[in-house]
Amino acid sequence: MSATLAPEEDAPNTRYRPSQRILHWLMAIVILSALVIGLYCSYLVPSTPQRQALLDIHKSLGMTALFLIAIRLPLRLSLGEPAYRQPLDGFNHYAARGAHILLYALMILMPLAGYTTSAAGGRDLPWFGLFEWPNLLPLDRPLARAAAEVHKYGAYCLYAVVSLHILAALWHHFFRKDEVLRRML
Ligand code: HEM
Ligand code: HEM
Repeated sequence: MSATLAPEEDAPNTRYRPSQRILHWLMAIVILSALVIGLYCSYLVPSTPQRQALLDIHKSLGMTALFLIAIRLPLRLSLGEPAYRQPLDGFNHYAARGAHILLYALMILMPLAGYTTSAAGGRDLPWFGLFEWPNLLPLDRPLARAAAEVHKYGAYCLYAVVSLHILAALWHHFFRKDEVLRRML
């Protein structure tokens, strides 16, 4: 799927477009913050004011991710990805592609599962204290519990895939010294 460029070719397209890079880093900050706060909340006693306050921030970050992925995915489908000067070998190519597809799937699944947990559980859906997102679901405790399970196991997957993704990016940059990280900078 990825095109290759002759080295002498003047290639403005060897990096992701500015809009794609901005969305990648913005979403990376938002999602990593949501993951850390969500993980911390899972160790706090339920219903305490501190947990509620942190969960409100967590939900706000998660809904921000849902909003941003709704922009990012159509952009990715229409703009595609930049060409590589040096194509990745078969294993790296398929590993990167598989990881990216999984990351996109989790970036959609996690906010939707979180939204369903809160909405079907009849809980608040705040956005940084500025407004409430509409609750589109009827009160349904079994659905809320099922969504919470999906949210929890989705989070385990996300920890694993994001850790591999970050390690892979650093490995490419510092050990293989190739263009992979620069494509996103
Ligand atoms: C990218 C988006 C998100 C990520 C990475 C994420 C991650 C997490 C993590 C790691 C936890 C702790 C594990 C657990 O106990 O389930 C958690 C819990 C939670 N998240 Fe999210 N979350 C996201 C979006 C959302 C959204 C959009 C909402 C609601 C609007 C939400 C609501 C909750 C709630 C209510 C809990 C506590 C679950 C419980 O008490 O059983 N999350 N989240
Ligand atoms: C320090 C953190 C991160 C670093 C260093 C990093 C680095 C990179 C790099 C270098 C690429 C381009 C790879 C290539 O073109 O072959 C990339 C793409 C991507 N990253 Fe990250 N990333 C980070 C965090 C995240 C997080 C937290 C997520 C989402 C949960 C994420 C999701 C993605 C996705 C989906 C792509 C594919 C982009 C596309 O083709 O549209 N990244 N990342």
